[in-house]
Amino acid sequence: MTTIIDGKATAQRLLDEVAADVEGLAAEGVTPGLAVVLVGGDPASQVYVRNKLRKAEAIGIRSFEYRFDAELSQAELLDLIERLNRDPEVNGILVQLPLPAHIDEQAVIQAIAPAKDVDGFHRQNAGGLWQGLPSLAPCTPTGCLRLLQEACGELAGQHAVVIGRSNIVGKPMAALLLAADCTVTLLHSKSREAAALCRQADIVVAAVGRPGMVDADWLKPGAVVIDVGINRLEQDIDGERRTRLVGDVDFDGVSRVASAITPVPGGVGPMTIACLMQNTVSATRLQRRQAAASAPA
Ligand code: GUN
Repeated sequence: MTTIIDGKATAQRLLDEVAADVEGLAAEGVTPGLAVVLVGGDPASQVYVRNKLRKAEAIGIRSFEYRFDAELSQAELLDLIERLNRDPEVNGILVQLPLPAHIDEQAVIQAIAPAKDVDGFHRQNAGGLWQGLPSLAPCTPTGCLRLLQEACGELAGQHAVVIGRSNIVGKPMAALLLAADCTVTLLHSKSREAAALCRQADIVVAAVGRPGMVDADWLKPGAVVIDVGINRLEQDIDGERRTRLVGDVDFDGVSRVASAITPVPGGVGPMTIACLMQNTVSATRLQRRQAAASAPA
């Protein structure tokens, strides 16, 4: 029997833990604040941002929303980030990606104060993750790791294949799996014999953005599969043009071979948001420790 990993249920358990943490902070007179910045009208980004803001409010995190049209200049965006970096009410800053082409994404990411970088994309956090230093880690791979810990139990010694080398998912996923003592293979668009390498994996994390790319032939029977892909397919369903969300994994084929698999939607997506809330609380505590350490005795 293949287990369909219930990302919604795991995310809800994590959110309950984070909500309890937020209550603990409230007892100390502190309300975590999360600033979410959206530039342009990308429909998928609008949905993600709305969901992040709603979830923050639902668990008692104060949210600050900044929406701009696609013409916002890089200098204006950097000005805003500087203000948010200095604002003591703001503990986490998230700039939704992708940004319009005229804005240098790296310049924006690196402008965010590392202690408020709840996406974990700043080089200080990304480097800290690889070196095993306390850091804010990217939300999607952190959520995937938690799903894997629940699905697999002990991860040490397992062979994990990560497909995709983005800064948002693939690379930090490899770092987190390595830190969990997995043997890690990172596959990408130039990898030779990708399917054969993938067939050696106990754990497969697919994060490439190509609908159905990983099919049953890529899998060792009994492997655990995490599908990070969220691909929007326009399809005629019952004579109507509809958008269907599909992952990077051919769910029907792979679920006959895998021991456990995440669905799309309802797998990784809810975990990303829950981990963002967890990072916002971690960032709040980190800033309080930093402020206490730098206060005059
Ligand atoms: N776009 C797609 N995924 C993400 C994410 O995790 N964070 C941000 N900021 N933008 C994204």
